[in-house]
Amino acid sequence: MDISSYKPKGRIEHKHLLNLLDYSTADIYEILHLANSLKAASKRGKKHELLKGKTLAMIFTKSSTRTRVSFEMGMHQLGGHSLFLSGNDIQLGRGETVADTARVLSRYGIDGVMIRTFLQSDVEELAKYGSFSVINGLTDDFHPCQALTDIFTVAENFGRLNGIKLAYFGDGNNMAHSLMLAGAKTGMEIFICSPDGYKPNPEITAAAQKFGNVTVTDSVEEAAKNANVLYTDVFFSMGQDIDKAKEKALMPYQVNADVLALADKDAVFMHCLPAHRGEEVTADVIDSTRSIIFEQAENRLHVQKAVMCLLMGKK
Ligand code: CP
Ligand code: NVA
Repeated sequence: MDISSYKPKGRIEHKHLLNLLDYSTADIYEILHLANSLKAASKRGKKHELLKGKTLAMIFTKSSTRTRVSFEMGMHQLGGHSLFLSGNDIQLGRGETVADTARVLSRYGIDGVMIRTFLQSDVEELAKYGSFSVINGLTDDFHPCQALTDIFTVAENFGRLNGIKLAYFGDGNNMAHSLMLAGAKTGMEIFICSPDGYKPNPEITAAAQKFGNVTVTDSVEEAAKNANVLYTDVFFSMGQDIDKAKEKALMPYQVNADVLALADKDAVFMHCLPAHRGEEVTADVIDSTRSIIFEQAENRLHVQKAVMCLLMGKK
């Protein structure tokens, strides 16, 4: 299946996007298809105020550039309104519970909450106690908006997802988890290449393997060989302390010219950003013509607009 041949239903049977575990292949294609249409409408300068009168609150207890700006601009382009709520400024940061925060926000008529925080359980609790849609804007375990964007970008680049080999190198973190799920559910071949001690969570890996083709390996050669996409992420995610032992363990998994040479001749390089040149990737790779990192960053806008429309729009 490619995005343009998918026949959209115009809806998904979900209120929230908490992780991708409970999203079907059709749900994912529904998002990608709408993202494609919204991107085309934006490029033509065609108005698409599908969320007029709707409000998205955005709670951040971790930093952000892309997520904050793309959600805020996305809501603006859809004719809605967004509220930025920094974790340091709202009472959540002083110990008010997630459940109470959810019940209070519900009383003000908020339609959706995008939350970036540490614990996945907090995102789930927000969804449990709120009347609004909840969108996970990154937790320690998952980053579904980024992974949906990434496969959208892959599909744009290769015209398909089925059979595309994506090799992820480095820390088995939130990005590795969400890429495994998004890729497995859309027929991609996902390789996660990490050393012992930094492999992805085995339960999430096993769940992803039930949906499709996911291999966890510590062999850079096995992962990179004929790969269509080379992907990496920072050694230290937000909230993690710099740790020399981890840096030493992950350095052999750096994406550099030698790794690129093993991949398919038309392979592309991807990174969710922010990147640390000289750590997880070398400058000659991330700044090369193979790198599609800024297409990825732009596509956050289009894909998240699709997610918001499908979750918060007219049912
Ligand atoms: N990739 C991503 O989520 O970027 P930000 O941390 O800047 O939001
Ligand atoms: N793994 C990174 C992703 C940032 C978008 C982090 O959690 O900091």
